[in-house]
Amino acid sequence: MSTPEACPMADPYWAFYWPGGQAMTRFILDHRKTFGGKHVIDFGAGCGSASIAASLVGASRVLVNDIDQYALLATLLNFRLNGVSVNNVSFSQENLLEKDLVVKNFFAESDEEKFIILGDMFYDSDFAASLFAFLKRSQKSSGTRVFVGDPDRHPLTEKRSLESYRTKFEKRLVAEYSLPGYVIREHYGFNTAKVFELVF
Ligand SMILES: C[S@@+](CC[C@H](N)C(=O)[O-])C[C@H]1O[C@@H](n2cnc3c(N)ncnc32)[C@H](O)[C@@H]1O
Repeated sequence: MSTPEACPMADPYWAFYWPGGQAMTRFILDHRKTFGGKHVIDFGAGCGSASIAASLVGASRVLVNDIDQYALLATLLNFRLNGVSVNNVSFSQENLLEKDLVVKNFFAESDEEKFIILGDMFYDSDFAASLFAFLKRSQKSSGTRVFVGDPDRHPLTEKRSLESYRTKFEKRLVAEYSLPGYVIREHYGFNTAKVFELVF
């Protein structure tokens, strides 16, 4: 059993397969037609499982994004270990929250539906507030659909948090998955992880 606290490296959040990322990954694998042929940004990709799933179901382009270079390296290794091609995959260490143009340019190359996917990125209310503002800008400028995998962490569930965000949105539950026992133990008792579509 392993937790972030037990890891010798600083902030090794890329080194864990988070419950929200597991749900996001499962959802993509189960919705091949939704993501096949589309442009997908995996924001905060971590170990890259959702990016790999998007490639496996035939996304035409995948942008793996994480501010931690080790996450990008781990993702590249995981693509190789899973025998999945990176021909249609780009890797970006940019903080997209400050780089709207990167998102706009990536999506400008496609006439198809566009997706931003996020696995377990709502672990802090202040960060969540910035994320919501960014996701709203992306949705308005590129028509992006936003899918979030999350085990009901407080920034997405607590009334006080939700009321505090200046960016308002609708949270539509599209899937819920049971988590395996060892994941429940490693992640402090979350029993399920959900996938939401966020509409701004
Ligand atoms: C809790 S992990 C989630 C990883 C993965 N999505 C999953 O579900 O397994 C959070 C990840 O977000 C990355 N991260 C934090 N802030 C970020 C930002 N502003 N832009 C992109 N990635 C960020 C971290 O480096 C880390 O890999």
